[in-house]
Amino acid sequence: EKQEKTFVIGISQLGNADAWRWEMKEEIDRELVFNPDLKIIYKEAGYNSAEQVRQIRELAARKIDLLIVSPNEAAPLTPVIDSLYQHGIPVVLVDRNISSDSYTSFIGADNIEVGKLAGQYAAGYLNRSGHIIEITGLPSSTPALQREKGFGDEIARYPNLSVTVISGDWLEGSVQQQLPHMVKELQNTRLIFAHNDVMAHTAANICRQLGFPNIKVIGVDAQPRTGLAFVENRSLLASVLYPTGGGEAIRAAAKTLHGKQAPKRDPLRTIIVDSTNVEMLQQQFNRVIAQQKDIVRQDGLLKEQARIFRSQKNLILILVGN
Ligand code: FRU
Repeated sequence: EKQEKTFVIGISQLGNADAWRWEMKEEIDRELVFNPDLKIIYKEAGYNSAEQVRQIRELAARKIDLLIVSPNEAAPLTPVIDSLYQHGIPVVLVDRNISSDSYTSFIGADNIEVGKLAGQYAAGYLNRSGHIIEITGLPSSTPALQREKGFGDEIARYPNLSVTVISGDWLEGSVQQQLPHMVKELQNTRLIFAHNDVMAHTAANICRQLGFPNIKVIGVDAQPRTGLAFVENRSLLASVLYPTGGGEAIRAAAKTLHGKQAPKRDPLRTIIVDSTNVEMLQQQFNRVIAQQKDIVRQDGLLKEQARIFRSQKNLILILVGN
C-alpha cells in the first residue's frame, strides 16, 4: 500500500477556557478532516505566557514540521517563536501577534478595523454625544492595543464624545473587580465598549444589577453560542464579528507544508452585528456547522468502510494463501 507522507503540526493555544477558543478548536478539527496527511499535537497554556513558552519548546523538541500559535502576550512569546522560525520551522500566527516578523503567515481580522467599527457604531448610536467606558483586553496582547487604537481614533473625531479607558484582561474577573466601584461614573455613562463578549456580557449584567438598565453595551467576537445569542436576546446592543481563523490556519499550514506560498497577511473579514442582521448571521453559522457535521459523519462512514474493506482483503489474502 502506498503511504502518503504525513506532517506533524504543533499547535500552541494560549488557553482553552473560553467559547471563542473552543470555536477555534472545532474549526481546526473540522478542517483537519480534509487534510488526512496532517497530524496535530495540541497544547493549551492556561492563559500563562511562561507556560506557553515552555510548551513551544516541548513541541520543538518533538520535531514538528510547522507551528501554529496563538500567543498570549507579544513580548514574552517573541524570542521562542523567533528561534523556531530561524531554525527553519514555518510559523502560522493566529489572532494575536508577536513583536517581530519571524512568521510565515498571520491569520486574523484587522483589530484596528474592529475598534473602528465599534467606534463608528457607538458614535452613530449616541448621536455623537455622551460618555463611554471602554474596557480593554489584556494590554500586553496585540488585539487589545489595536482595538483601543481603532476605537480611540474614531471617537476622537467627535468633540462631544468622552471616554474613560479601564484595563481588563479578556476575562470576566477583571470587570467584576472594577466596574461595581464606578457607580458615580456609571450615572452619566451611556455606553460601554468592551474588547470581547465575555467582558461585555459581564458588564451588562453588572449594569443591570446596579440599576443602570439603559447603559448599552457593545462587545467583540459575535460567535454563535455567545455573542450572537447575547445580541439576539438584547443583553448586548452589538458585537463586532471576530472570526477565529481556525480553518484558515490549517489551510495556510497545508499550503506551506505542500511547498506552496501562503500569503504573509490576508486579513479575515469583520462586520458589526446588531439586531438588524443577527438572525441572518446565526442562520449562516448554523448552515456551515450543519454541513461540516455532515462531512465529518461521512468521513467516519468512509473510514469504517475502508476498515471493512481492509479486513476483507486480509481475509482473502489468507484464503488464497498469500
Ligand atoms: C479569547 C479572546 C477573544 C478575543 C481574543 C483576542 O481568548 O479573548 O474573546 O477576541 O481572545 O485575542
